[in-house]
Amino acid sequence: MEPIKKICVCGAGTMGSGIAQIAAQSGFNVIQFDVNSEMLFKSQSAIESDLKKLVGREKITASQQEEIKQRIVFTSEIKNCCADIIIEAVVENKKIKQQLFDELCLINDSTTIFATNTSSISVSELSVNKNYASRFAGMHFFNPAQIMKLVEIIRAAGTGEDVIETLVQLSKQLGKTPVVCNDAPGFIVNRVARHYYLEAMQLLEEEAASVEAIDKVMEATGFKMGPFKLMDLIGMDVNYSVSNIVWEALGKPERLKPSTIQKNKVAANELGKKTGKGFYEY
Ligand SMILES: NC(=O)c1ccc[n+]([C@@H]2O[C@H](COP(=O)([O-])OP(=O)(O)OC[C@H]3O[C@@H](n4cnc5c(N)ncnc54)[C@H](O)[C@@H]3O)[C@@H](O)[C@H]2O)c1
Repeated sequence: MEPIKKICVCGAGTMGSGIAQIAAQSGFNVIQFDVNSEMLFKSQSAIESDLKKLVGREKITASQQEEIKQRIVFTSEIKNCCADIIIEAVVENKKIKQQLFDELCLINDSTTIFATNTSSISVSELSVNKNYASRFAGMHFFNPAQIMKLVEIIRAAGTGEDVIETLVQLSKQLGKTPVVCNDAPGFIVNRVARHYYLEAMQLLEEEAASVEAIDKVMEATGFKMGPFKLMDLIGMDVNYSVSNIVWEALGKPERLKPSTIQKNKVAANELGKKTGKGFYEY
């Protein structure tokens, strides 16, 4: 396959913004697309402020900072989304993602790779019966995407091995550590980590310990972030939606039942850092 030169990142929220930043920092030309102009503006400000910090810490020079900024084009028009690879990071909703890929298929070359950053939707289901199925895979970054090293590369039922190889190569060019896995509910991390969140909320419901105490204990045992701080960082809506999708995909087992505490937080728009309040206040 041709080497990747141009990357289009769809969705300029928490994940899309970080992916666009690391792609530009790694020397790629980037198109950052979102249907919401306000999100594009927020993403641009967040990237600029992060780059400024990197200059302050002497990780990059002032001229590199300018070059990185110049490499990203921000757009709310889908017609500008033509690239060697599309990395989709829009809301965790199967219909919206499928509709977007179908639209992108019409304006892109027949060689463009389609990668989804979904946390939990079946990558095979997203691409089944599509004429781009062989060029479709999961490319699951972790939050914050510009920093976290792990990328899960998810092989869907129809993904070509050349596409997997290209994604592994691309991940390395982005400074990441790729791990290839087959499509399964929650992939690897989101399946195993589900219990980290769910059991913590269960303890809270049983009034066994406070949010702060549970986080403190888990951090003291070696986890980088306690479960409640992590849910606030991820976004309550995103985390709750992943819990539901994984639970349903596995036939609703009791051990993975989504938490009412989290459901109520989502209903109250207490989504974590992004809304200023979750389990903590920001
Ligand atoms: N938040 C995390 O920690 C995390 C980690 C890994 C993967 N993910 C996955 O990444 C994806 C994005 O999550 P996020 O946390 O960045 O969400 P977010 O809510 O921060 O951002 C989603 C963005 O998608 C945009 N959008 C919605 N519909 C669109 C469309 N049709 N075309 C273009 N843009 C559209 C919204 O305007 C918004 O800016 C989800 O699939 C999520 O499961 C999230």
